[in-house]
Amino acid sequence: MENISDVKMMGQRCEKLRRQGRRIAFVPTMGYLHEGHLSLLHEGRRRGDILALSIFVNPIQFGVGEDFETYPRDLQRDSDLARAAGVDLLFTPRREDLYPEDFSTHVSVSGLTENLCGRSRPGHFRGVTTVVCKLFNIVRPHIALFGRKDFQQLAVIRRMVRDLDMAVEVRGLPIIREKDGLARSSRNVYLEAEERRQALALVDSLRLARRLVLAGESRAAVILQAVADRIRREEAVRIEYVQICHQDTLQDMEWVTADSVLLLAVQVGRTRLIDNHILWEEIT
Ligand code: PAJ
Repeated sequence: MENISDVKMMGQRCEKLRRQGRRIAFVPTMGYLHEGHLSLLHEGRRRGDILALSIFVNPIQFGVGEDFETYPRDLQRDSDLARAAGVDLLFTPRREDLYPEDFSTHVSVSGLTENLCGRSRPGHFRGVTTVVCKLFNIVRPHIALFGRKDFQQLAVIRRMVRDLDMAVEVRGLPIIREKDGLARSSRNVYLEAEERRQALALVDSLRLARRLVLAGESRAAVILQAVADRIRREEAVRIEYVQICHQDTLQDMEWVTADSVLLLAVQVGRTRLIDNHILWEEIT
């Protein structure tokens, strides 16, 4: 595995591999790798000749008062995991190279970014699309892999790629969960034992919603009420949003259909967690 921090060198290395006819699969992350990230790497390993992973905690996607400074970092552990997962190129760009002082260009997707996390984290998706666009321009991957855990992010990136004619195939992969159902997240390490227990209300409420749908309930309001009631039973958990949206447009839906996704964002103590589920699919 090669570890490259220099932006120009990474670009040149990828260009050379592409010219040799190698197919580059790319997984962008903010590090502190867990099984969710590893599932993307495994799929990338299968689909590409060259597997590239980036680790960069992107300051411009964090809002004021969010956890940019405290976001968990462990490059040594990440690089061991990356090597074991068969990564060929580990890209760890420097902040000052990606964002020189006079940096002034951003990519923003309208519409899709206005609901859900876009409402509670203004500017967040602009930071995400800007960095992902930059990383795509440096790596120029044939295929890029993202998790459905960040459902809205995936939709926004797909839209950016389509709207800006980027020559990359975007693939979305299923949510990887802990044994007890909690969606894997780098932020789970913030949770204290009792918070960790109460955080299970998320997956529990998704399961409850699915049971209601299977039993024939299709009124979104009824399902959302049941979900919110379940979550509110936990005193450490505060709801940021609970919504049922169309999986392509991310617009709220009044009636559940095969295209409905239930999306949750909560605050557990000081930790922000998200989860979601396409209601007609089984929860694995
Ligand atoms: P990060 O939170 O590190 O996530 C990197 C990728 O891993 C994302 O595509 C995310 O959806 C996926 N992922 C995280 N947890 C997952 C889980 N439990 N199951 C499946 N996939 C999971 O998302 C970001 O970083 C950043 O916003 C980034 C795209 C790198 C831009 O900075």
